[in-house]
Amino acid sequence: MKNIDKNSLENAYRLFESNDIEKIEIGTTKGLKQIHHYLFHGLYDFAGEIRKLNISKGGFRFATALYLSEILVKIEQMPENNFNEIIAKYVEMNIAHPFMEGNGRSMRIWLDMILKNRLKKVVNWQLVDKTLYLQSMERSPINDLELRILLQENLTNDVNNREIIFKGIEQSYYYEGYEKDEE
Ligand SMILES: Nc1ncnc2c1ncn2[C@@H]1O[C@H](COP(=O)(O)OP(=O)(O)O)[C@@H](O)[C@H]1O
Ligand SMILES: [Mg+2]
Repeated sequence: MKNIDKNSLENAYRLFESNDIEKIEIGTTKGLKQIHHYLFHGLYDFAGEIRKLNISKGGFRFATALYLSEILVKIEQMPENNFNEIIAKYVEMNIAHPFMEGNGRSMRIWLDMILKNRLKKVVNWQLVDKTLYLQSMERSPINDLELRILLQENLTNDVNNREIIFKGIEQSYYYEGYEKDEE
């Protein structure tokens, strides 16, 4: 793993270890920017900053940069009353893809904060298969059923379990191609 990614992984661990996570706003654009800044400050010059350029992945074009700030206001106002609403909100935030890089990793933490706050549950990411997850994310702008099933069957009530949190962070980096080196 490159130093920049290792540093970011260490920032992610520290976010939870230090309890700084408790200072972050839940379910808002500001909260997501705070998470992104925490993970990537000093590593990306756009840490915590909304992108000004258009980007796409796998042929899917994320929200147009020109309208992004308006879209983000709408998304943070979306309801979070039940699991399906929370996933719908997460899917919209993924379609917005507010940062040039680091959206996946910061948004999974953002999602878990909402789930914990509203449902007293989090995703046990270590049990969520990488290929199935990435396929369901690609599918999600059209239909979020697969994503809902995948995440619903891997929710846990054990929300303060450090092992689950840290393994989950490692899994989140693994989804994006960053694997912890053997020590
Ligand atoms: N074709 C796609 N359509 C919709 N979402 C996608 C697509 N490809 C990837 N994603 C989502 O984007 C995330 C990666 O975004 P990225 O900004 O590169 O984050 P990171 O830098 O943390 O890897 C993936 O985890 C997935 O959730
Ligand atoms: Mg990436």
